[in-house]
Amino acid sequence: MAIVVIRQDNKIDVWKNALQKADSSIKVYSYLESHPKDEITMAVIWKHPTGTLANYPNLKCIASAGAGVDYIFEDNTRPKNIPITRIVDTFLAGDMSEHILSVLLAYLKNLNIYKLDQVAHVWEPKSYLRIKDVTVGILGLGELGALTASDLTRFGFKVQGWSRSKKNIEGVRTFFGADEQQEFLKTTNVLVCLLPLTTATEGILNKELLSQLPKNAYVINVARGGHLVDEDLIDLLDSVHLSGACLDVYHTEPLPKTHPFWDHKRVHMTPHYASVSDTNSVIPQIIENYKRLNSGEKLQNLVDSDKGY
Ligand code: GLV
Repeated sequence: MAIVVIRQDNKIDVWKNALQKADSSIKVYSYLESHPKDEITMAVIWKHPTGTLANYPNLKCIASAGAGVDYIFEDNTRPKNIPITRIVDTFLAGDMSEHILSVLLAYLKNLNIYKLDQVAHVWEPKSYLRIKDVTVGILGLGELGALTASDLTRFGFKVQGWSRSKKNIEGVRTFFGADEQQEFLKTTNVLVCLLPLTTATEGILNKELLSQLPKNAYVINVARGGHLVDEDLIDLLDSVHLSGACLDVYHTEPLPKTHPFWDHKRVHMTPHYASVSDTNSVIPQIIENYKRLNSGEKLQNLVDSDKGY
């Protein structure tokens, strides 16, 4: 019984060492070092190279090191009949909520436009909005969406949310299902996408949906690049139906240097870092699941494979 850490960024040793430090009795390997593949029962992964999960004949659990699991379902060579878990963490949710609050305030007070003015040495005061002037609409009321929604109400924003099934969040107007989507969009000034990426939500931020927002609406995508149809967003920004967009996620990451988002004046970008798993905070839940796996108990934070999240 052992854990393998599989990820392609530069955090592989950080994760391996943190798991090892949390419980020195557990054997933890990086997938890059030589290791006994048949001993591995849990893979702790983040955007693993496709095919690597198929190397472990005795794998019993795939643990995503982040909240999202879309990249796991995209790998058709993964073992299909074992549980997948994801991270549910107060810092991960809180960091996302803080990021969205920062983006909203920068939007209301024109901070991104002033930065461009500064670079161009332009002095041009602009009228600003107040928190009470906008209705924020959150697509997706899972762990991150629900916390963001209630945090924003405490700052005085009017907040509404749309989800696949009915949700109740104090102070938040909630909509659900296809029938209520139009009304939700019509009354949203700033749309925040926090949906999981599944076959049902891929490309959901397209011309048809975004055109239903009122003129001058602003779009924030902090979920996955696959939710957005990039050309449709650019068309709606250029035709001034949308006033701007702030993106943290892209179809290809890092975003290719030639992508039109880089030079678009009304696209504001961050490099998929709105909210990242903090090992200190999330390792205990992975270790707990590893122990449960070994003792045959039900795992925490299980993903529903039929829903894909
Ligand atoms: C980040 O994108 C995550 O899914 O945790």
